[in-house]
Amino acid sequence: MHIKNKTIIITGASKGIGKTLALELAEFSCNLVLIARSENELLEIQASILNAKKSNCSIFVGDISDLSFLDLVVSKTIEKFKQIDFLINNAGIGTFGSIQKYTEEEFCTLFDTNVKGSFFLSQKVLPFMKNAKSGHIITLISDVGKRVFDTGALYCGTKYAQEGFTSAMRMEVRPFNIKISNIYSGLVDSDFHATKKGSKEQGNWLKTEDMAKSIIFVMNQPKNVVIDELMIHPIFQEY
Ligand SMILES: NC(=O)c1ccc[n+]([C@@H]2O[C@H](COP(=O)([O-])OP(=O)(O)OC[C@H]3O[C@@H](n4cnc5c(N)ncnc54)[C@H](OP(=O)(O)O)[C@@H]3O)[C@@H](O)[C@H]2O)c1
Repeated sequence: MHIKNKTIIITGASKGIGKTLALELAEFSCNLVLIARSENELLEIQASILNAKKSNCSIFVGDISDLSFLDLVVSKTIEKFKQIDFLINNAGIGTFGSIQKYTEEEFCTLFDTNVKGSFFLSQKVLPFMKNAKSGHIITLISDVGKRVFDTGALYCGTKYAQEGFTSAMRMEVRPFNIKISNIYSGLVDSDFHATKKGSKEQGNWLKTEDMAKSIIFVMNQPKNVVIDELMIHPIFQEY
């Protein structure tokens, strides 16, 4: 297992894909560093991981678009665990509708969360990965980082931006033996959408467990193997 004893930062770990991934990774004796804005949810997840006594778990409550918060996360993680082996850029929000409806504030909130957060956290962990000549950054983009839909002008814009910077970053850091993997998923049954997690409407969507298992598969490849891109959909969804 390449993830055993490794230090793994997960953004957006309070619910959805990030939470399920954290709980599944906790089975593998890792040092987990979980980030989100919801303190109670993170405390509950941390307690359940620590009670199981298989993995370490630190939590950081804050907004990933706040660069001083990101500095704190990275410096405290290095202080405690000495190295950062994996960064999972997962935190993200969506809003959908005609391009006519968006305010500047909505535009900035979406770009700050989806793009600024993942861009600058990647920037801040990379020096430690370069120094160690190893590391793996995995970004939860979306299939709409490669294709668009008519009410997706703003959301697709943020996901294409993530696709752009991570792909350029891949070329830049590959000589340092650092892996960059992007996950492009279709519909996932989480609280991300207007309809509710577990509702009839989301019944045949991917489960967060399907996503967690796929991400762990990407993480768990041998040293000489990198899965650059993973496209994943529920079988009913056209692509
Ligand atoms: N669900 C889908 O169908 C789908 C499909 C393709 C791609 N994705 C992508 O997958 C990722 C995870 O989605 P999900 O379905 O798991 O969504 P989710 O259930 O809504 O969870 C989103 C997570 O992001 C965190 N978050 C949001 N804004 C944040 C901020 N400013 N600072 C820190 N944390 C923040 C949330 O925590 P707090 O609210 O506690 O901060 C939460 O833990 C997103 O990047 C999304 O774009 C989702």
